[in-house]
Amino acid sequence: IKCNHCVLCFICEDSELDDLSTNSQAAAGIIKYNMRKHVDLDQEGCYLKTGREDCLEECGFNTTAKTIFIIHGWTMSGMFESWMQKLVNAVMQRESDANVVVVDWISRAQQLYPDAVNHTHGVGLDIAAMLNWLQDEHQLPLENVHLIGYSLGAHVAGYAGTYVRGTVGRITGLDPAGPMFEGVEKEKRLSPDDADFVDVLHTYTREALGVSIGIQQPIGDIDIYPNGGDVQPGCGLSDVLAMTGNFMEVMKCEHERAVHLFVDSLMNKKHMSYAFQCTDPSRFKKGICLSCRKNRCNKIGYNATKMRKRRNTKMYLKTRADTPFAGYHYQMKMHVFNRKDSNSADPIFNIKLYGEHKDTADIHDNGIGLNLTNTFLVFTEQDIGDLLKIRLSWEGESDSWSSMWKNIRNKFWNNKPSNPILEVRRIRVKAGETQKKYAFCAQDPSRTEISPGEHITFVKCPDGWDVKPRKRYETCGGKIRRGGGGGGGVSESLNDMLYAVILFFLINRVPM
Ligand SMILES: *[C@@H]1O[C@H](CO)[C@@H](O)[C@H](O)[C@H]1NC(C)=O
Ligand SMILES: *[C@@H]1O[C@H](CO)[C@@H](O)[C@H](O)[C@H]1NC(C)=O
Ligand SMILES: *[C@@H]1O[C@H](CO)[C@@H](O)[C@H](O)[C@H]1NC(C)=O
Ligand SMILES: *[C@@H]1O[C@H](CO)[C@@H](O)[C@H](O)[C@H]1NC(C)=O
Repeated sequence: IKCNHCVLCFICEDSELDDLSTNSQAAAGIIKYNMRKHVDLDQEGCYLKTGREDCLEECGFNTTAKTIFIIHGWTMSGMFESWMQKLVNAVMQRESDANVVVVDWISRAQQLYPDAVNHTHGVGLDIAAMLNWLQDEHQLPLENVHLIGYSLGAHVAGYAGTYVRGTVGRITGLDPAGPMFEGVEKEKRLSPDDADFVDVLHTYTREALGVSIGIQQPIGDIDIYPNGGDVQPGCGLSDVLAMTGNFMEVMKCEHERAVHLFVDSLMNKKHMSYAFQCTDPSRFKKGICLSCRKNRCNKIGYNATKMRKRRNTKMYLKTRADTPFAGYHYQMKMHVFNRKDSNSADPIFNIKLYGEHKDTADIHDNGIGLNLTNTFLVFTEQDIGDLLKIRLSWEGESDSWSSMWKNIRNKFWNNKPSNPILEVRRIRVKAGETQKKYAFCAQDPSRTEISPGEHITFVKCPDGWDVKPRKRYETCGGKIRRGGGGGGGVSESLNDMLYAVILFFLINRVPM
């Protein structure tokens, strides 16, 4: 359909799609504001146009309701990707009164990546002009405006927030694009200044050949890095190929995960995912950061809340591989005594949790520090209910080179049989989701020693047992190797390489 004078806001587009000049004036007509009336994207929406009162009315724009703009990113196909339908659905279901507007800048986004990047500025300006008009003519309260941008769309939202008169309520950046934005001044990318509350989900920050698809640096008020922001469960090459049989999906999986996590937060109100503030992902993996004190935790996605005077706050969580993405985090702390001088011990402990509803499988942890309080993170996909019992078992000596060497050395120098004995008297547990703290004591107080092949069972300490931690003289020791998860290293890096090569071509304007 091509027409210059719109009669019906439902059908008309007054643009010349073949006009690809980079001038932002010309860009203005190409950007379409598709206000959704039907959930189904195949059903034409109704188009809003800056300055056109009749369209507002015809589209049933409600100026007192929330207004949610959804902004897509760079596209190779020139079509909305399938996530768009899911996000529109979820937003419309959650906020049935809201004005849900899809900002369609496809023709500008379907270009070489650097050109698409160049257009983010103009598209942002155009959105700002639309919002200014709505403010002037209809007293639209900007605090009711929420811009949701994926990939390049997040930076478009940033520009819109910069140029609008006043401050929009919220911008959500869903894995904001990294190439050409990483490390640039905050005026040229999404930043906390662009809205009253800027929340960002980072899901594909792994670097290959010097770039990452999603921006690595924190750029919002809160910046949430699910699964460390890099390896997303269920996104391994074999996982995705098995699910979709489509190679492009493999490359998009981790980037797009941000959208699916956001959709999940709109749909699954019962069990929200929480993220926890932490200075870096390795500390989070050790379970050190599961606190909600002083706003150190937040819900992720739609129900994230603004925290006073916080900027660029990095937050972490682990997720399941599919919806519902939320799981359960536990911090475990145990002091491992080495009284019998078993210095050759290099234990691999397995931990099994027994809950009111379910038990977990053995969860693997090695790199236990001796005479230290070891802290680690246990993540369960299912709600095991109230934690009743913990079983700690020692699998046997790890077959690491260092422990083999220690064994050989021990056998060589002193012939005494090495059967290391360690002692664990209690395990302190903190549940991230409930913030409940427990202390578990050995079920049989006389059995707190453990050797390879043995186990100790812990139950809740008897009432009156002092839960207060003793003075800390220990450090949080031990590297933790996670059992399972992670996916195949080879396929992950293959996936990254492919994406990097494609990016390289796009950035360097080499026709593919
Ligand atoms: C407009 O939105 C407000 C707030 O959500 C709601 O109370 C009102 O009923 C809506 N008006 C119409 C005509 O839908
Ligand atoms: C962006 O567009 C402007 C013209 O509007 C041009 O001067 C500039 O070189 C472009 N930048 C890139 C990276 O293509
Ligand atoms: C989520 O946020 C909405 C407001 O946006 C609020 O009404 C609702 O109660 C929140 N839900 C939860 C579970 O916090
Ligand atoms: C651990 O502490 C005990 C005393 O409690 C001591 O005998 C032992 O040598 C220490 N072991 C290590 C590895 O520091």
